[in-house]
Amino acid sequence: MSLIRHALLIFSILKLCSAYNILVFFSIPVKSHTILGEGYVKHLLDAGHNVTFITPIECNLQHPRLRQIDISENLNLYPLYLFNAQSIMAKELDLSDFPGSINFQIGFTQATLLMKPIQNLINDENEKFDTVVVEWMYNELGSGLAAVFDCPLIWSSSMSPHTFVLSLLGEFINPAYTFHLHTTERLYSFAERVRQLWKSMHTRYYIWSMTDHHEKIYQNIFGPAILKRGRKPPSYDEVRYNASLMLGNGNVVSSDSFPLPKNYKDIGGYHIIDVDKPLPENLKQIMDKAANGVIYLSFGSVLRVSSMSENYRNSILDVLKNTNRTVIWIADVNLPNLPENVHMMKWAPQLSILAHPNCILFITHAGLLSLTEAIYFGVPVIGVPFFADQFYNIDKAAEAGFGRKCVLDGISTENLKIAIEDVLENPRYLERAKQLSDTYHHRLASPGKELVYWIEHVIRTNGAPHLRSNSLKVEWYKIYYLDLLAVIVLVFILIILVLKRILSLLNKNEIKSKIN
Ligand SMILES: *[C@@H]1O[C@H](CO)[C@@H](O)[C@H](O)[C@H]1NC(C)=O
Ligand SMILES: *[C@@H]1O[C@H](CO)[C@@H](O)[C@H](O)[C@H]1NC(C)=O
Repeated sequence: MSLIRHALLIFSILKLCSAYNILVFFSIPVKSHTILGEGYVKHLLDAGHNVTFITPIECNLQHPRLRQIDISENLNLYPLYLFNAQSIMAKELDLSDFPGSINFQIGFTQATLLMKPIQNLINDENEKFDTVVVEWMYNELGSGLAAVFDCPLIWSSSMSPHTFVLSLLGEFINPAYTFHLHTTERLYSFAERVRQLWKSMHTRYYIWSMTDHHEKIYQNIFGPAILKRGRKPPSYDEVRYNASLMLGNGNVVSSDSFPLPKNYKDIGGYHIIDVDKPLPENLKQIMDKAANGVIYLSFGSVLRVSSMSENYRNSILDVLKNTNRTVIWIADVNLPNLPENVHMMKWAPQLSILAHPNCILFITHAGLLSLTEAIYFGVPVIGVPFFADQFYNIDKAAEAGFGRKCVLDGISTENLKIAIEDVLENPRYLERAKQLSDTYHHRLASPGKELVYWIEHVIRTNGAPHLRSNSLKVEWYKIYYLDLLAVIVLVFILIILVLKRILSLLNKNEIKSKIN
């Protein structure tokens, strides 16, 4: 007896200390998304685990405990050409439609999951994982991986916490003081609160109305692989609402404050690794010499400067020339006749530029990674938002006081000129950026440490059931007290019926007494 007990004890200790097998699935063939995936890979490898990384952009890392599964063919399915800067600025293209985003991403994720490398993986019965990390991108199809490997599901969300990812954990946030992911203004007026409520209800209804359709897609992708492993495939809802944990990309500065479920953890900034990398020599010289400071301009990897009209690019160059500062502009084109103070390049180590003490302003598309990096290094920002959560991000930065929003219309660059003058002449932006950087860094553990800690916690505790919201055990009509509402309405109707009856009896009596 005691021998068995000892053996069990040793076994459980071994389990606690051993390296885990972790599957990380990031499907979007866009640099900023794979950077987030690589963050998981690097931290988990450093912690001694085995990582299988399904990615469309191979990570530049050789490691005996890393296996990469190449799905780069899905690049052909992703309409990057759609992100035309000129049409977005001219509002000819609307990328803010939520149902549209869902429909596109469902089709894209379905095609990706049906690709050979992934089908081979899920149909190989020798493959075993202790947990899977899946990036949420407007759909939950990837959650089927957890059902195949019969292991805990961990969501990764690339944005600040919002109602649609939180609803997967069983929590709903009040739209009166939280904003829809695609909000372009932060207002608490009557009209805006009603609009937020409507948008959030409509999107939730839309997601619900598509359930049957998405269920079929999910069963088609994963059903056979689960059957092959001798289990009956659970339903889509059983799987997508069964996450143990969600790791989000928000942080205390960029995200609004409201109650979050216990199994939601913001670890924004975990992708910021190797901050001490020196600048390449040419850049170092440019930045060291810039006594008036350096303006760093980058619209991210999706939005191509080459898709802006030539006139407009020249107009931006004019504004930059007149700032009288050294400018580093990251773009996919080389423009002729650059002013002396402007340096254009296809790529540069963004972290090392922001880390340089002479960097005084970051003009960005307000993607959350760039904003978090600005906060990390305490650099003020001007956000030029184009789509998705970029409006939300820069509005929040402006509210926090370390940035300013600048919407471009593709015709005039006056807004940009005014914004640059304001941020450069007003020291409060820089002061606030430094102060908020300190707020960001004042924490118990680095985001990378938290990432590893929570993933290990989920595996050690068999899916961390103690962190899940109670609301998942209760039917939706009970959560909204619709049964109470039904009782109140019934009682109300009963009272009216009884009153009517009494009145009619009284009337009859009156008539009778009159007759008598
Ligand atoms: C839900 O997750 C838990 C913990 O990982 C797991 O034990 C359970 O089988 C999952 N349920 C379904 C229906 O996938
Ligand atoms: C530009 O910078 C130079 C050198 O620092 C300075 O003398 C000049 O006044 C500046 N011009 C403007 C318009 O700010």
